[in-house]
Amino acid sequence: MANVTVIGGQWGDEGKGKIVDWLSSRADVVARFQGGHNAGHTLVVGDQVYKLSLLPSGIVRGTLSVIGNGVVLDPWALQAEVEKLGAQGVSITPETLQIADTCPLILPFHRDLDALREDASGAGKIGTTRRGIGPAYEDKVGRRAIRVCDLAHLDELGPQLDRLCAHHDALRAGFGEPPVDRAALTAELRQIADFVLQFARPVWLTLNDAKARGRRILFEGAQGVLLDVDHGTYPFVTSSNTIAGTAAGGTGLGPSAAGFVLGIVKAYTTRVGSGPFPTELDDAIGQRLGERGHEFGTVTGRKRRCGWFDAVLVRQSCAVSGVTGIALTKLDVLDGLDEIRICIGYRLRGQKMDHFPAHAADQAAVEPVYETVAGWSESTAGARSWAQLPAQAIKYIRRVEELIRTPVALVSTSPEREDTILVRDPFSD
Ligand code: IMP
Repeated sequence: MANVTVIGGQWGDEGKGKIVDWLSSRADVVARFQGGHNAGHTLVVGDQVYKLSLLPSGIVRGTLSVIGNGVVLDPWALQAEVEKLGAQGVSITPETLQIADTCPLILPFHRDLDALREDASGAGKIGTTRRGIGPAYEDKVGRRAIRVCDLAHLDELGPQLDRLCAHHDALRAGFGEPPVDRAALTAELRQIADFVLQFARPVWLTLNDAKARGRRILFEGAQGVLLDVDHGTYPFVTSSNTIAGTAAGGTGLGPSAAGFVLGIVKAYTTRVGSGPFPTELDDAIGQRLGERGHEFGTVTGRKRRCGWFDAVLVRQSCAVSGVTGIALTKLDVLDGLDEIRICIGYRLRGQKMDHFPAHAADQAAVEPVYETVAGWSESTAGARSWAQLPAQAIKYIRRVEELIRTPVALVSTSPEREDTILVRDPFSD
């Protein structure tokens, strides 16, 4: 398999940044295929820390980086991120960055609408990143979106803008907001158009050409499978398909392109934003996981909710995403616990369940059934081989593999790139 697809196996924030960075140093092309600048990938290279939201992680090392058609693109966020990385010494040119000319744009009123809806939703709010992701995807499937290629035709944009603004003006009126200022929007688009267009390409051609030449493509997923709009904890999800299957449709390659599907899975569970979380811990152990794991959102700085590893949810994630192997991250956060619990099933109103139910009320009502395993007192931080792991930690990993019915390909034991136990190399599989 020449290609690798990396996806999050839980609710995002599984530590994809480090793994993607390690893999991207060996890839010829790195491609994003869904989401937008709601993602937060932290890369530590040498003594520099890079925080990426929209750009594929390969950009930091100068690997050809592609933003596929499945991504929603905020042109101003793109410019800000390119400038921020430029200030850190990363030069981004059309030789290193290509953006699908079919990407739908996130416009300022998408951001407004995201925030207006969240503010109006009270307890029912989703807890979005307020970046306009959902509203932009709505306009894409509503066939009203302005896309990257439209930036080269701004003089002919009138009828398209009329349709789009008529839709948004009605929504805005419902919130007591003034209509979209079309003259101001057009002026803003004119100002940013050339910046975006320098990177615009039919990236499906670039990628198919790379495939034909046997190049290694790394698909970089954002968020996690439990936030997938179809397979996640709906409606507390993001607005894209985060499963590995989207790597193909979100870039313009056929379904066989995904290659080795690497699911990144944290040794416990976290979630930002609202929604069901059966194994959530509101006690001292939850607090401890958050502190030891530095569980604060990269994008919004919000405190992440923490809980035990949920093998039922991860088994489901691995199944719907066709995961070949997982990368187990942040094992060291569990160091020093006397006992560790793993969720192995649920009870819903007295009935046993071996999968997560579809209905939101059932999802909120399931009670986890736990298995308790012994913890370990030794440190696993920085381990680079099985021999450096305590026996109980190895037992924990083996039990996780068994329960999720998916093998471990990598174990990550610190944010450092080299602090990794490699079991199976995704690129040479
Ligand atoms: P949206 O993607 O901004 O619409 O937010 C929808 C849900 O997805 C919220 O619960 C967010 O907290 C969550 N979310 C979006 N992006 C990420 C991410 O990169 N990591 C973790 N959660 C995310």
